[in-house]
Amino acid sequence: MAGKSKFLRYFKEYRWSDIAAMIRNNRAEPEICHNDFTGRLVVITGATSGIGYVTARKYASRGADLLCINRNREKSETLRQEIEKEYGVQCGYRIADLAIMADIYRVAGDLAAMERPVDVLIHNAGVYMTRRELTPDGFEKVFVVQYLASFIINYLLMDKLKSQPRCRIILVNSEGHRFAAWGLHPDDLNWEKRRYTGLGSYGSAKLAQLLSMLIFDEQFKGTGVTVNAMHPGAVKTETGQDNGPVYKWFKRNFIDKTLKSPEMSAEALFWLGASGKVEGVSGKFFNLTAMENPAPPALDMEVARELWQISLEYSGLKQ
Ligand SMILES: NC(=O)c1ccc[n+]([C@@H]2O[C@H](COP(=O)([O-])OP(=O)(O)OC[C@H]3O[C@@H](n4cnc5c(N)ncnc54)[C@H](OP(=O)(O)O)[C@@H]3O)[C@@H](O)[C@H]2O)c1
Repeated sequence: MAGKSKFLRYFKEYRWSDIAAMIRNNRAEPEICHNDFTGRLVVITGATSGIGYVTARKYASRGADLLCINRNREKSETLRQEIEKEYGVQCGYRIADLAIMADIYRVAGDLAAMERPVDVLIHNAGVYMTRRELTPDGFEKVFVVQYLASFIINYLLMDKLKSQPRCRIILVNSEGHRFAAWGLHPDDLNWEKRRYTGLGSYGSAKLAQLLSMLIFDEQFKGTGVTVNAMHPGAVKTETGQDNGPVYKWFKRNFIDKTLKSPEMSAEALFWLGASGKVEGVSGKFFNLTAMENPAPPALDMEVARELWQISLEYSGLKQ
């Protein structure tokens, strides 16, 4: 559990100006990038719906080839046919359930063995669960899909990516990392000691991903690889479909009515992957295309290093 000293430290580090910036950025439109991306390869997880789907289409519309990491074969095949027919680019896919360790390892191994350089790697797949669910490996599901999968894939791709002239890794994160307002609980990442809540597990997994970004940024220093995280806006997607009928009814009738179109997320994700304005920028958090200070716990290097070690242990990568 985050100690009292951490609580006090974070409390002192919160700034009203950061909250005001977030509110301002939440109302803003993303910057638009008009660059051509012909011949580039973009890898994206969770491209079968929502933000991933429109982002795949956006990159394809600018000429990029795609490699999508999805869990559903039928949807992946439909996506492949649609994109290849409409844009004349390649849209390959790999099937992987990013809640299952064996699948995460298999897909990371496939990517690492590829000869073709990856120009942009977008970790987008995500879930929101109102009830705690365990994966077949015994981990809390949101923690694995939202965080550990991206950690393992990035870790196993480090050598390949460092050997390339350049690559931009983009973590589709969230302002929801602020739900973990008083920090990560490295001793209870699996939600065994605390009362589980949907917002709590989501915020904690997104916070973990931001903390891992700090260490990946260090690891990639002096190479052509950058790693940034972004909030894609509050947009209408299929998120939450793994929950019960009451949540789905509430989402459809209340939450969805307040949300924007995920086209804005796709514009921002294209800008972050293709614009010259972010060339060399790394280790930063963006709200769409506006650079923003994340919550203080997301900048805690001490916890970031602790989490890194725990993640290696959980993933069996310690050796
Ligand atoms: N929507 C928002 O307002 C919002 C705000 C902040 C952050 N985000 C983040 O944006 C990202 C995309 O979410 P979204 O809103 O676009 O939701 P979505 O429509 O539900 O899309 C999620 C994507 O992830 C895939 N996915 C889910 N679990 C997976 C698993 N175990 N293995 C492999 N793929 C899996 C889904 O596959 P299927 O098609 O097979 O279900 C789908 O392609 C998430 O990381 C989310 O946290 C969203």
